[in-house]
Amino acid sequence: MNHSAQLAGKVCVVTGGAGSIGLASARLFVAEGARVMLADLDADALRQAARELGDEHADFQVTDVCDSVQVRELFERTMQRFGAIDVIFSNAGTVGPIAALADYPEQEFDRVLAVHVRGAFLCCKHGIARMRDGGSVIITSSVVGVRGDPGAYAYITAKHAQVGLMRSVAKEAAARSIRVNTLHPGPVANAFQQRVESSLSEVMQRDAGEFFDQIIPLGRHARPEEVARSVLYLASEQSSFVTGSLLMVDGGMTA
Ligand SMILES: NC(=O)c1ccc[n+]([C@@H]2O[C@H](COP(=O)([O-])OP(=O)(O)OC[C@H]3O[C@@H](n4cnc5c(N)ncnc54)[C@H](O)[C@@H]3O)[C@@H](O)[C@H]2O)c1
Repeated sequence: MNHSAQLAGKVCVVTGGAGSIGLASARLFVAEGARVMLADLDADALRQAARELGDEHADFQVTDVCDSVQVRELFERTMQRFGAIDVIFSNAGTVGPIAALADYPEQEFDRVLAVHVRGAFLCCKHGIARMRDGGSVIITSSVVGVRGDPGAYAYITAKHAQVGLMRSVAKEAAARSIRVNTLHPGPVANAFQQRVESSLSEVMQRDAGEFFDQIIPLGRHARPEEVARSVLYLASEQSSFVTGSLLMVDGGMTA
């Protein structure tokens, strides 16, 4: 192990770990000396991701973050396998429907809120109880955690709610020197955002990807690897006095 690495000896749990930002972050965590437990819905995708990271560095647990028993088992299994928990990256997400308010499906509203809000809550509840003092919790919110737009009602509501959760948990967890922050990516060049943009393009009657590039001062989407570097910052001692804060990773979109 590289002892000058930023996460040497640390154990990180990553939800949405088979997805774009989750796996890009897990790769960086492992490169910086961590061992990683990946959690997601699909066993095959998880197995492939863990194999890529290497058996000695990574393991996986199929987990629906909305399910309290499964989330508790995720952290118990991490303790059994790696003996500690230092970083929780609560990152699982789904965009849900994009629709006019009057047409917005109510069951889908509840489902999307459950993934982001109940999911992050359960990760904090079951994970912080088991993590070492001095750890770091990072919750992936979004630029739409601090601004509204019509259409993605459940997603945008959920991403705002994660900030309230983060701020409250940060104040309790500080007694154990555990830091809790939210990460707010803008549009990322990945399949998740492509799906969002293909729906939005129909509503907007123009290319939504081009539209975003015009309103992002840096003029482009983020790469998953650059979002991962901001996750590493929050996970590591580089951010040792940062808690209860929102880190925008949006190319200036909310400036
Ligand atoms: N892609 C973007 O442009 C963008 C921008 C801002 C924020 N985000 C947020 O970043 C996070 C990661 O998204 P991504 O871009 O890597 O997309 P992604 O779809 O590649 O990854 C999300 C992962 O979460 C998993 N997931 C969904 N519901 C789950 C559940 N109930 N339990 C466990 N896992 C579940 C999915 O299977 C998927 O692997 C999400 O919270 C998303 O809202 C993404």
